[in-house]
Amino acid sequence: MHYICRGMKENDFTGKLPNHELPGGSFNWKAPSNIALVKYWGKRPPQIPANPSVSFTLDHCATRTSLHFVPMESTSGEFHFTISLDGKSSDSFRPKIQTFLERIEPYLPFIRQYSYRIETSNSFPHSSGIASSASGMAALSLCFLSMERALFPAMDEDYFRKKASFLSRLGSGSASRSTEGPLMQWGYHTAIPGSSDLYAVNYPFPVHDIFKNFQDTILLVDKGKKQVSSTVGHELMHHHPFAENRFRQAAENLVKLEPVFREGNLEQFINIVESEALSLHAMMMTSSPYFMLMKPNTLEILNRIWAYRQDTGSPVCFTLDAGANVHLLYPGNIEEEVKKWIESELARFCEGGQYIHDRVGLGAQPF
Ligand code: DP6
Repeated sequence: MHYICRGMKENDFTGKLPNHELPGGSFNWKAPSNIALVKYWGKRPPQIPANPSVSFTLDHCATRTSLHFVPMESTSGEFHFTISLDGKSSDSFRPKIQTFLERIEPYLPFIRQYSYRIETSNSFPHSSGIASSASGMAALSLCFLSMERALFPAMDEDYFRKKASFLSRLGSGSASRSTEGPLMQWGYHTAIPGSSDLYAVNYPFPVHDIFKNFQDTILLVDKGKKQVSSTVGHELMHHHPFAENRFRQAAENLVKLEPVFREGNLEQFINIVESEALSLHAMMMTSSPYFMLMKPNTLEILNRIWAYRQDTGSPVCFTLDAGANVHLLYPGNIEEEVKKWIESELARFCEGGQYIHDRVGLGAQPF
């Protein structure tokens, strides 16, 4: 594992103005959410991660986005767009989309020449505490990139994939890992060929079949909006006393995962993944100001997972994103028994008894 490849540079993604325009039309993409195993927490402009990360792409939890576009007669200074979520006009996303359009314009310089209607819907409930920024930004990026491909049809598939992830990253860092699957790596690492801070790539080393059928049941402990956003959390890593060690730990965990993924070593997998989740939350608890996103029921569930694993030897484990919900990870061959246990023992710690069964998926698709 000593191979250095820096891959594509930022300039490689700079766009050209086309010599013709598209008539009105639309592009439609469905992009899944993802769950990080090694966590991205800390970044610098423009959306460059402080450490590399790796994630399972999910399957059912996804955003469907339709981008309708119409060429404009004259190009004014403003971007022209409307957004609807589940058929209802939604202005709360406007600032985020505005920033995103400003960030992607150097790479898609034609975008100001059209007006847009963005229609989006999530497969998971709005108030589930599941962030839709990864799936939402990946779906929207793919729609805009499809416009570019329609203008420049010679674009090859490899460039399309990398640029899809590159643009998604500019919307939300974790979105860079939602364009493909089942295992995506984002962030430069000397030991990972093709890895880049600019876009995610399919994990380049062999992956045991057991990980291709992994299940993720999302236990919805708290469906409300979290008190501290990821944006603020990333920011707090700038003056964090443990930041450098944390970034080093994440990079080391990626190296440790290489034989684990190859051999299907679940014991080591559990060790690394649970430690990553708790390290992420430890960073939150030791930030200044400090904060905590886990709730009493999060801890209740973690303790029950440990007890169940001890009693049954069943290779179930957890990870957490930046919230109170618990992602229960387990191989597909024990799905039936684990689902029974979730219903009988864990559901009562979920808000409204709700959880979502998901599994590892293959990435975004046009529809
Ligand atoms: C804890 O990707 O939501 O889920 O780049 O500011 O949009 P922005 O942050 P975001 O952060 C994700 C944090 C995480 C870990 C991860 O997904 O790797």
